[in-house]
Amino acid sequence: MPNPQENARLEQIKRSWQQKRQITERLGKIKTKIGVYSGKGGVGKTTVAVNLAVTLAQQGNNVGLLDVDIDCPNVTKVLGIDEKPEYVDGQIYPSEKWGVRVVSMAFFQQNEEEAIIWRGPMIHNAINQFLQTTEWGDLDYLVVDLPPGTSDSPLTVMQTLPMDGFVVVSTPQALANMDAKRCINMIRKLNLNVLGVVENYTGEIFGEGGGKQLAEDVDAPFLGNLALRASYRDNSKPTALLDPIVGEEYTHVVKAVKKSLQELGKEAG
Ligand SMILES: Nc1ncnc2c1ncn2[C@@H]1O[C@H](COP(=O)(O)OP(=O)(O)OP(=O)(O)O)[C@@H](O)[C@H]1O
Ligand SMILES: [Mg+2]
Repeated sequence: MPNPQENARLEQIKRSWQQKRQITERLGKIKTKIGVYSGKGGVGKTTVAVNLAVTLAQQGNNVGLLDVDIDCPNVTKVLGIDEKPEYVDGQIYPSEKWGVRVVSMAFFQQNEEEAIIWRGPMIHNAINQFLQTTEWGDLDYLVVDLPPGTSDSPLTVMQTLPMDGFVVVSTPQALANMDAKRCINMIRKLNLNVLGVVENYTGEIFGEGGGKQLAEDVDAPFLGNLALRASYRDNSKPTALLDPIVGEEYTHVVKAVKKSLQELGKEAG
């Protein structure tokens, strides 16, 4: 007769197996998962994730945006989403804005000021729960806004949610891209793909060229420049939809991302 300890262990194995199966089923309906990542905070990761997502949606794709920047989830603020997603029968139904379905860790904060200090296992559990319970529907692309750097949080996210590739956001100054190199090494150590490097804040003030240099140094595609512009100050709409020149920059980046995906045999459409 099996003893209670043995029974509990079998139950545990069964639960974790069911969880894995459920996640695999859910993720199976998402054709392409793209992570947006950077070495440092404040380089424009969230801005790039949001504008990539709305540009892909504008091109007729079904797009989801998942904010797993645990420490600082602000995708909803950038998109101007106030209402929480619908939570029915244990399922999360994403909020929708500008044609993009959005789920953010911020939805589960009690208030905006509350600091989220999470350790690896908690992050792992929270992401698993997101993945298990979010009803995305059929998606061509899921864009994921990751925490910056090489600490526990981004590492856990990368290990929990299998991404098809990463867009690395860098800056015009070559020196500042040391951290980005470390990030790219981390992605590759995990046997994941770097889709390429974008340079944000290009222009007179910060210069130009760091992103392209970084791409060359790490032997990854350069996906394009995104200039530093005043139009980002208007947050009534994602800037790619508001400013046609920014829209063009993002169309170019999307094209380059698709090319990278195609070369890896991962392109959705
Ligand atoms: N190309 C640009 N031109 C002008 N402003 C920009 C540009 N890109 C981003 N910004 C602005 O810079 C600020 C920081 O951008 P963002 O929040 O996207 O960075 P982040 O890397 O996600 O930061 P964090 O690490 O805090 O999550 C925002 O106010 C954003 O509007
Ligand atoms: Mg951010």
